[in-house]
Amino acid sequence: MEHIDWEENGQPHQARWRSEAGVPPPKRVLVADDRISADAAYKLACEGTALLWRGDFQNARQLLQALARRIDRKPKKANAAAAPADAFHRHRAAQAQRARILGMLLIPFEPGHLIPLRRAPDAHRACEEAYGAAPEPYVASLRELLGLIGAHEWRKKGVEIPALGARIHPHYGVFSPVRGEYVDLVAQAPLPSTALAFDIGTGTGVLAAVLAKRGVRRVVATDQDPRALACARENLAGAGYAERVELVQADLYPDARAPLVVCNPPWLPARPSSPIEHAVYDPDSRMLRGFLNGLAAHLEPGGEGWLILSDLAEHLGLRTRDELLAMIGGAGLRVLGRLDARPRHPKASDPADPLHAARSREITSLWRLTHST
Ligand SMILES: C[S@@+](CC[C@H](N)C(=O)[O-])C[C@H]1O[C@@H](n2cnc3c(N)ncnc32)[C@H](O)[C@@H]1O
Repeated sequence: MEHIDWEENGQPHQARWRSEAGVPPPKRVLVADDRISADAAYKLACEGTALLWRGDFQNARQLLQALARRIDRKPKKANAAAAPADAFHRHRAAQAQRARILGMLLIPFEPGHLIPLRRAPDAHRACEEAYGAAPEPYVASLRELLGLIGAHEWRKKGVEIPALGARIHPHYGVFSPVRGEYVDLVAQAPLPSTALAFDIGTGTGVLAAVLAKRGVRRVVATDQDPRALACARENLAGAGYAERVELVQADLYPDARAPLVVCNPPWLPARPSSPIEHAVYDPDSRMLRGFLNGLAAHLEPGGEGWLILSDLAEHLGLRTRDELLAMIGGAGLRVLGRLDARPRHPKASDPADPLHAARSREITSLWRLTHST
């Protein structure tokens, strides 16, 4: 268990440090309150000094916004001629730097996730969902806390899935099906069989539920992440498919074959900077390669593997189409067909987004794969 140390009223103090993003505890910590100016706080945060907040909670929120404005108004080094991959890596580095600075504003918690600050919200539910029980006091960053509160609201509200006629409730840290176009592809592709399907990396369970709704009699859905499995269990029960979908904790495949195997792996070959990013970033395309390399051995003769993949990595210069086709061929597979969809998420059409040029060309495909012989 990691600890954070600071001095207050001339006395040394220590508390448990929590960071879902895996950020180590800051080494230098000062106690701060409403009297600190945004400029002073910004300077300290940039230098790597964290501020443990003792003032009014809502003022801390405003200070965080003031820090964000100071980061965002720094001129970005634009280089139109830069290769897309360089622009992508620079964008990621800038995001990481922003997260580091904003992560320097810290909030104290009492046992039971209580926040002992004026005008603090009751966030114990949100914290419990992400952190579990809190029998002891701890410290976490305000930015992370706001993320947990946002995730809690999403979980309560859920995401409408038209193909299901139901809402899916993503848990904290589980990939949320907000990009509905890929769900529609799975709802539309011709089914090779309705006897059995595998959903590899099920996340919220959304694709397993869509397959069950389409009449697939049995689905085995896997994930490595216990949070995803707990989330999928709740969603499948809510949608009325608990009996037909078996959830299995596994690295990719269950130990069997099926006439249909579906997988929506993370689509960008890059290093995630927090556990939450594992659903988007897949270092060296590990899950994509693992899925392709294991598919022939888990498909029944004549069966189909449905790979759902955005081509954003291609537009960012992180993977070529030829490399993807070589991975497919090298795994003893051939392409039976492909269904394409354009993303509808707001970033796809936001010209202010630094990756707009690549995002505006993005297409998500469902690749229908089968044995090559
Ligand atoms: C992009 S998300 C897709 C989730 C869900 N299928 C959907 O379409 O909304 C990828 C999922 O794969 C899971 N995952 C990553 N590596 C895995 C592995 N080796 N075995 C099983 N699941 C894995 C992640 O935990 C995550 O839930």
